[in-house]
Amino acid sequence: MRLDVFTLIPEAFAWVRERRPVAAVLGTELDLRVFNYRDTTPLSAGQVDDEPYGGGPGMVLRVDVVAAAFEAVYGGVPDHRIVALTPAGRQLDQELVEELVAEPALTLLSARFEGFDQRILDHLCTDAVSIGPYVLSGGEIPALAVLDAVVRRLPGAVREESGEVESFSHALDGGIEYPHYTRPAEFQGWTVPDVLLSGNHARIEDWRRERVRSVT
Ligand SMILES: C[S@@+](CC[C@H](N)C(=O)[O-])C[C@H]1O[C@@H](n2cnc3c(N)ncnc32)[C@H](O)[C@@H]1O
Repeated sequence: MRLDVFTLIPEAFAWVRERRPVAAVLGTELDLRVFNYRDTTPLSAGQVDDEPYGGGPGMVLRVDVVAAAFEAVYGGVPDHRIVALTPAGRQLDQELVEELVAEPALTLLSARFEGFDQRILDHLCTDAVSIGPYVLSGGEIPALAVLDAVVRRLPGAVREESGEVESFSHALDGGIEYPHYTRPAEFQGWTVPDVLLSGNHARIEDWRRERVRSVT
């Protein structure tokens, strides 16, 4: 997958290259590029945003700035999925993640301040995605959330079994994963369920199945 991110804070994406899941697939399953709108803005002094028509507080990311960024990187508007991160978008869930990971190329757009000029959403993007019904200060954390959720579904990004049997996965019928325990077996009187120490894999499997909670 080729994954491109457009942002005003490219350094927010530096560390992910050195950590799993991105580090495990970078250069093989994943080509990750991060672009700064300021590097290709047609406006002077690195300007990328402007005051909203009609007045009001905050600055709005300009449509010509995003169009210029696409022109510089793709030679126009690309024909793959372009996701704008916005609180007003479709809420991110595992179903959407699986949809996005099937794409050969994906572009993520983040904004700051008041957000995107609506024409960016209407004419330059295919999707608007929210990571939840709350407002963050910028699209970098939402873009990182999408990036991580998508990249960990690429082959080799995480140990196979931990990627397949997880909350919301098909393996658990979309349910919430069973609880995990590790050593010590007893801590301050808090014990681990006996069945997990029994070595009886069939019983352990039954116990885990019973504890998968459905999402309501
Ligand atoms: C302060 S927010 C803008 C909020 C916008 N004025 C509104 O009321 O919906 C700035 C940017 O952060 C990002 N952002 C904030 N919260 C988000 C969320 N829950 N999901 C996705 N992106 C979000 C978006 O890129 C947004 O344009």
